[in-house]
Amino acid sequence: MRYRRMPIEVESPEQIGYDAITYNLAESSMRDRTVGELKLDFDVGATLLLYGDHRGHPGLRALLAAEGGCHPDQVLLTTGAAGALFIVATTLLEAGDHLVVLRPNYATNIETPRAIGATATYVDLAFERGWQWTVDEIAAAMTERTRLVSITTPHNPTGIVFDRSELERLATLVAARGAYLLVDETYRDLTLAEPAPFATALGPHVISVASLSKAYGLPGLRMGWLMTRDSSLNEQFLAAKEQIFITGAVLDEEISYQLYRRRAAERPAIAAAVAAGRGIVRDWIAAESTMEWVEPAGGVVAFPRIKPQAPIDVARFYAALNGEYKTWVGPGHWFEQDDRNMRIGFGWPTHDELKGGLAAISAALRSATR
Ligand SMILES: Cc1ncc(COP(=O)(O)O)c(C=O)c1O
Repeated sequence: MRYRRMPIEVESPEQIGYDAITYNLAESSMRDRTVGELKLDFDVGATLLLYGDHRGHPGLRALLAAEGGCHPDQVLLTTGAAGALFIVATTLLEAGDHLVVLRPNYATNIETPRAIGATATYVDLAFERGWQWTVDEIAAAMTERTRLVSITTPHNPTGIVFDRSELERLATLVAARGAYLLVDETYRDLTLAEPAPFATALGPHVISVASLSKAYGLPGLRMGWLMTRDSSLNEQFLAAKEQIFITGAVLDEEISYQLYRRRAAERPAIAAAVAAGRGIVRDWIAAESTMEWVEPAGGVVAFPRIKPQAPIDVARFYAALNGEYKTWVGPGHWFEQDDRNMRIGFGWPTHDELKGGLAAISAALRSATR
């Protein structure tokens, strides 16, 4: 493995230091919550800190399996969705194997296959095409050696939600070519309408990955999972998990179980917060003549850009934004894109912080106008 630190991690707010940032628009989750806010219904002091079930908390797996249309033993709890993505990539790919990845994407979905030495063909999404892809483009990118097709929906960093009928056609194509389809659904519970069925419904060759980090504001729990209806594949994923972690943290898993049991009650507030944050960004885009976007349909991030014709010195813009206004966004290079694009997270800041951060972007744009 050829590990390399990714810019999205090196430059992340937690590495910069939250105290150094006034307006944090760089997060892709809802506001982080305290343990106390979760109103937990179990005796923390009585929790036995043993090695837990290697697949993960049976109660949580049963809840996920019921939603995913699979057996609880086809659910593997992992250390965040990041842990699941690592297990999937290292189980399915060896150096020289071929995969197809949508780009931009969450950085790990590109970087881990790269670190393994796999050969990727990228299907590049374009602003001008509404960040959409076609099944034909993915078919054209696949070769006889393709082991894996990797997509993310709702998509990071654009917030685009891919059409269910296209996903079904894609799953059919990938099955016909004898490959696996990885669907990173980490933002699933952040769609405005009812969340789509888990991608496991698309076929036994489909692997669904998600976590509690984003919608529930719990990235510090590090609770994610993968699901696939292929039991023998699942057994390989379990072998990977056992070699990396043995099992998960029982306390984190119990907290996650308690939270996930109440998920239906949590969702209306989440949906309202997503809609409100998105509305604030929409109003700002409408008033900010140098910016344009493809409005996201899910998640709490958008990926607007400085209009190509706008006479902005991009390096000066970021220097002013970070240095003078102490405001953070996710610059395009976090996603191997031009820095005229920036990811704006509208679920984490309070509404006042979001408005303050957007005003700071406008001010930095003015100060960087040539
Ligand atoms: C699409 C996507 N997948 C996975 C992750 C990893 O999240 P976590 O490990 O906190 O669940 C992220 C985090 O930003 C993400 O955006």
